[in-house]
Amino acid sequence: MNKKTVRDIDVKGKKVLVRCDFNVPQDENGNITDTRRIVSSLPTIKYLLENGAKVILCSHLGRPKGEVKREFSLAPVAKELSKELGIEVKLASDIIGESAKSLAANLKEGEVILLENVRFDAREEKNDPEMAKELASLAEIYVNDAFGTSHRAHASTAGVADYLPAVSGFLIEKEIDFMGNALENPARPFVAILGGKKVSDKIGVINSLLEKVDTLMIGGAMAYTFFKAQGFEVGNSICELDKLDLALELIEKAKKKNVKFMLPVDNKIGKEFKEDTESKIVKCSEIPEGWEGYDIGPETIKAYQEELKKAKTIVWNGPLGLFEFDQFAIGTNEIAKTLAEVDAVTIIGGGDSAAAIEKAGLADKMTHISTGGGASLEFLEGKKLPGIECLQDK
Ligand code: 3PG
Repeated sequence: MNKKTVRDIDVKGKKVLVRCDFNVPQDENGNITDTRRIVSSLPTIKYLLENGAKVILCSHLGRPKGEVKREFSLAPVAKELSKELGIEVKLASDIIGESAKSLAANLKEGEVILLENVRFDAREEKNDPEMAKELASLAEIYVNDAFGTSHRAHASTAGVADYLPAVSGFLIEKEIDFMGNALENPARPFVAILGGKKVSDKIGVINSLLEKVDTLMIGGAMAYTFFKAQGFEVGNSICELDKLDLALELIEKAKKKNVKFMLPVDNKIGKEFKEDTESKIVKCSEIPEGWEGYDIGPETIKAYQEELKKAKTIVWNGPLGLFEFDQFAIGTNEIAKTLAEVDAVTIIGGGDSAAAIEKAGLADKMTHISTGGGASLEFLEGKKLPGIECLQDK
């Protein structure tokens, strides 16, 4: 990565504002159900504390739309951080108000505080310069380590870098190194697996990956738009009728680029959107009326597995079926198991694919699981991420 990191600056005795992505899932009682984003932020926080910095953490949680809402408070995160770090992480009751100012002013070396949810202030998502300036006034250095939010140009992810020396944390560095290397310098064969609901969400990434990969595999509901484009009936399956031409163009582009473009050959289909619905396996050209495709079928799994076993680099973004329901999680789980076994660099784009890998208990078998959902997708698309662009070059 060509951006400066915390290693490149002297942080001793300095107040350091660190933007993290603590946007973690919670259950109805506010318990954090997946701490990966918190745990992934620890190396930077620990490094700063060990090197004598006074650490001020900030993050968003959810989408409170500029209003102070208790259910979006970062209190559970402060508790979890205190547990992980073994020291108390005090939570300011505001972002840049009296509470934050007084806690920040009294910080000692090796101490850490957390500001309240930056999205409680409507100016955050507008990247308002006044808010950025006020945030900056709490500290002397800005560190962005919120990879998952680096595709957003907000006051705490980008604007603040106009007012403070700005460098990257270790999480952003790691994400860019793993994903950047896989894209720029992949060991071949390079295979990408793309799933998810809509072709329209993935046009950018399909286009960009067709320039780089040897094989592109499609799964998830997105596949049905490709089937329909080729003249097959798809029953009640999710299908973007206004994207049929585009689907054909993408298949055509793959041919021109000599990329093997793999679509499912069979599917597991269901009657209704519910866990225990009646289901069966059919060829992709034989989805009956009234049925909906929810997973890739066994022949597809086999064909994809054969291809994956030959790969040296694999990038995966988006689940291959309705993995939240066990009977339609088979495709996603089988492909996850294959990735756990192959002798290849395996990179998992965050969001749902990361959740599926976690659910399958295979997270520690992957080379890298991104903490970014939208951010990793935009990175794979080759887009510039404002939260990284704003940092100082090496
Ligand atoms: C995410 O979960 O993808 C990030 O935290 C960004 O959240 P947002 O989509 O609400 O900006």
